[in-house]
Amino acid sequence: AVVLVGDDSASQVYVNNKKKACEAVGIRSVSHVLSGGTTEEALLELIAKLNADKDIHGILVQMPVPKQIDERKVILAIDPKKDVDCFHPVNVGNLHTGGEGFLPCTPAGIIELIKRSGHSIEGKQCVVIGRSNIVGKPVAMLLMQENGTVTICHSRTRNLAEICRGADIIVSAVGKVNTVTADMVKEGAILIDVGMNRNEAGKLCGDVDFENVKEIAGAITPVPGGVGPMTVATLIEKLQHSRKNPEWIGIKKNCKKILRWIPLTFRESQGYSFYIGKIRKNGRKGSVCMKKGALKGIVCLVVIVVIWMAVSFRSKPLSEEGEISLENFVV
Ligand code: GUN
Repeated sequence: AVVLVGDDSASQVYVNNKKKACEAVGIRSVSHVLSGGTTEEALLELIAKLNADKDIHGILVQMPVPKQIDERKVILAIDPKKDVDCFHPVNVGNLHTGGEGFLPCTPAGIIELIKRSGHSIEGKQCVVIGRSNIVGKPVAMLLMQENGTVTICHSRTRNLAEICRGADIIVSAVGKVNTVTADMVKEGAILIDVGMNRNEAGKLCGDVDFENVKEIAGAITPVPGGVGPMTVATLIEKLQHSRKNPEWIGIKKNCKKILRWIPLTFRESQGYSFYIGKIRKNGRKGSVCMKKGALKGIVCLVVIVVIWMAVSFRSKPLSEEGEISLENFVV
């Protein structure tokens, strides 16, 4: 069940994308859209009902909630066994101590994105910008569990540019345009942009100065079309891992076939962009740019057919099929 309180436009987009992705793979999803004036009591009552409903296996209350509602009370009210976001202190504790339980979607997806793209985190200098409970803190923990050496930076960090220049991997999650500029990035570094902002022209953009940083970075996620759809894909993938026990998550048994289609149906439903990466002939070693090429359609078709054939003939778990990859963005 997805609960949205208020009319925040970004939250509406996130919730719709999650709903569409669930529909695409055959997961029953129930949406509760409440007005911005909803009281804390009413929301807690709804959560209690969802906790008690044996047909609901996951509860996601989209954050932020309006000011009159205490976010912490909401998080504490959700049954930890249904806390797909991994926001409840029990699950956060398990995350930090290496116990079993849900992993938070965006942070877990970021790790997956880096690893599936063939990059190792072990021993790397990782800089996380932002210390939120949703992204900054958990992604730092997961990077450390992957044996990265992690520095967490925030609004009071004094020498951000200098710290970033030493980084092999930068995850920016502050929600501020141009937090990371080209002069702050080491050649070949991996940039994961979690920001979702509007620039002066009103255009959607991330925290990273994409146009200039892409010339230096080894790999970089765009905004839109990067971490956003990846987060939804991660949520769906977490759900599909329960296919050995379909009842647990409300997936119909006959949907196993559909589940194998997640990479394709998901991308279609999300309008996922495929890029043909092209090495710029500007003499810069390792510099990469992203370009939508003329062959995009043909390559997409070939890729879809190849993936479909591979998926049809092999019943490997989805996690080994490599559908989330930085290579989709940068080659
Ligand atoms: N708001 C921004 N990101 C998230 C998320 O991953 N989960 C929820 N519940 N709210 C969010």
